Amino acid sequence: MLSQDRAPIYEALKQYKANRIVPFDVPGHKMGRGNPELTEFLGAECMTADVNSSKPLDNLCHPVSVIKEAEQIAAEAFGARNAFFIVNGTTAAVQAMVLAVAKRGEKIIMPRNVHRSAINALILGGAVPVYVNPGVNKELGIPLGMTVEDVERAIKENPDAKAVFVNNPTYYGVCSDIKKIAELAHANGMYLLADEAHGTHFYFGDNMPLAGMHAGADLAAVSMHKSGGSLTQSSFLLTADTVSEGYIRQIINLMQTTSGSYLLMSSLDISRRNLALRGKEIFAKVQSYAEYMRSEINDIGGYYAFSKELCDGGAFYDFDITKLSVHTRDIGLAGIEVYDILRDRYGIQIEFGDIGNILAYVSIGDRELYLDRLIGALNDIKRIYSKDKTGMLDHEYINPIVRLSPQQAFYGKRKSIPIGESAGKISAEFVMCYPPGIPILAPGEQITEEILAYIRYAGDKGCFLTGTQDLEIKNIMILDV
Ligand SMILES: Cc1ncc(COP(=O)(O)O)c(C=O)c1O
Repeated sequence: MLSQDRAPIYEALKQYKANRIVPFDVPGHKMGRGNPELTEFLGAECMTADVNSSKPLDNLCHPVSVIKEAEQIAAEAFGARNAFFIVNGTTAAVQAMVLAVAKRGEKIIMPRNVHRSAINALILGGAVPVYVNPGVNKELGIPLGMTVEDVERAIKENPDAKAVFVNNPTYYGVCSDIKKIAELAHANGMYLLADEAHGTHFYFGDNMPLAGMHAGADLAAVSMHKSGGSLTQSSFLLTADTVSEGYIRQIINLMQTTSGSYLLMSSLDISRRNLALRGKEIFAKVQSYAEYMRSEINDIGGYYAFSKELCDGGAFYDFDITKLSVHTRDIGLAGIEVYDILRDRYGIQIEFGDIGNILAYVSIGDRELYLDRLIGALNDIKRIYSKDKTGMLDHEYINPIVRLSPQQAFYGKRKSIPIGESAGKISAEFVMCYPPGIPILAPGEQITEEILAYIRYAGDKGCFLTGTQDLEIKNIMILDV
């Protein structure tokens, strides 16, 4: 057993600072002295920790000392065989998972409501998706998880697939039966990959949905910077003993920086220590905050802050009660409208709003005072802004018509046309609202009137549309066939 009290990167950095090493290496700000304005803004402590890799501090691409040790301690904390420090966001961890298990032309079974990073990996590596359409809750208009039966069917129809990919949980907090899906995947010689961008706390709190590595996943991408408290862009890639440590490191090194940030790495190290030592209390508190808010918001009426009552043993197998997802359409407002009003009128920034729901992120850093501010603001919004909901769009997920693999479409012969004239064509790029970053259209999918109506509606309501080369989303790249 390794000691979870340790934080080897942090300790090495402290020693490095104490040794007063004279820097004739990068970064050129040289402990902040070369950039006083930035140092004033970020603080000298921060700038002196922004150093380069060296023998005492190890090297992220080929760790042999303190980073290696920190990774081993992290692996033990998460119940994994290996943990890799990732400083290019969970995007890099998701991409590494996919690139590690499926090469060009090989199949990977995944729900269509994956984050763009998963489909980006298919563009990079050329693997081919076999989409399992997620369940949909019609009232809420949200995509759910995958049912075991749907995964089983996809496996039967594609016995040559290399892996099954699961969101654990979705952005809204919905979980599939990951344990059964892992068993099915393994029984058919496939890997199980878990995107746990929103599930770090599953590893540390009590009464949580099952964490990927505990359910038998072979690889899991964990956004420590979301619920884990580390700095933005820092994540873990976890692996079981079914994959080769050295090969995974090589895959990560295909894309990850050679200048790993010690700010990010020390934040991972310190945050892992914090969660390993205090995670149970921390997440019990987060759960109680979210439960309190859910109950108060449901008492307002009109809103629906949903939870485990929707669990059905299928596509809504389990729910992460730390997620405060609230359905807003019954007060006649799209989630994104409530999101905008909260920020512009009440000074409250929430995580996201889609066309029917909002998600407020409740975490380790919340203050009780703020919980009541959000509840009060939602109460006001209902009183002041609610309207008749007639005519509001009531779906959030459209099953895609896939014509080509993402890589074939992205690198195919393409041309730009006005988006309004694109129905019937094959998209060569993404269109999505960010957040949540789940593609409405991905490269290789047919554009339909229904999709265009959805994009127009989301844009009119104020969703932040992204993905196309044209930043104004007036034009779209289609395949020029
Ligand atoms: C489900 C999911 N996977 C992966 C990512 C990518 O994470 P990052 O922004 O850290 O690259 C996100 C980001 O929000 C996400 O929601």
